Amino acid sequence: MQKDKPIIALDFDTVDKMEAFIQQFEGQALNVKIGMEMYYANGPALVKQLKAAGHHIFLDLKLHDIPNTVHRSIRALTELGVDMLNVHAAGGEEMMRWAMEAIAEAQPDPDKRPLLIAVTQLTSTSEAAMQAEQLTQATIEESVVHYAQLSQKAGLDGVVCSPLESRLIKDQVGTDFITVTPGIRPSNYQSQREDQERITTPAKAKALGSDYIVVGRPITQAADPVQAYRDITAEWQA
Ligand code: C5P
Repeated sequence: MQKDKPIIALDFDTVDKMEAFIQQFEGQALNVKIGMEMYYANGPALVKQLKAAGHHIFLDLKLHDIPNTVHRSIRALTELGVDMLNVHAAGGEEMMRWAMEAIAEAQPDPDKRPLLIAVTQLTSTSEAAMQAEQLTQATIEESVVHYAQLSQKAGLDGVVCSPLESRLIKDQVGTDFITVTPGIRPSNYQSQREDQERITTPAKAKALGSDYIVVGRPITQAADPVQAYRDITAEWQA
């Protein structure tokens, strides 16, 4: 995964649309994120195709199951040669440890293995819903820090979180612990906030300590995606 470039969320409903989008970049190696929708419809073949074209892949499947099942699944996904994978921290420390072991088994070279990051609380979860549904008195921030610490204890590389939480996580867990942040809107982005709540710009995300930013619609739905990508990359690198 190239740290100096944003990760483009390829949230398309067909491979044709995804390919038409990627073609505009004329062979540039991109960081891309494949989510559940694309993966469940198109499977490993899609990952292999993107990989063969030289792209770096964050496979965003958010695994959450018993340790043995997650172990076997992460092993299979690592064998595809992806660069970043994720699990739900709520699956527990043991599940996360088994996931890390699966990566080491499938790719013993530490320089080539995918990064494993955890989802703490989904960005769609409000504090009120979390407290009622997860039967807790914790604030969202306390819960996010708790899950980040648990993930680190299990040996994971980092977490997915809101860019506004990166600084807090770095302070509590350590600067080496990676934060991957969606919720990015470039400063010139004119459209509605869509369903992203706690959003910030690429430059602000960097200042707050994000290691990687994930950007979807501001690039994929832009009138000129290549220009939008250039602008966002420049803002991220500044
Ligand atoms: O909003 P945008 O299209 O940039 O979203 C990029 C990625 O951010 C999505 O693929 C999704 O995984 C994530 N996202 C999120 N919370 C939201 C909306 C999107 O984490 N509310």
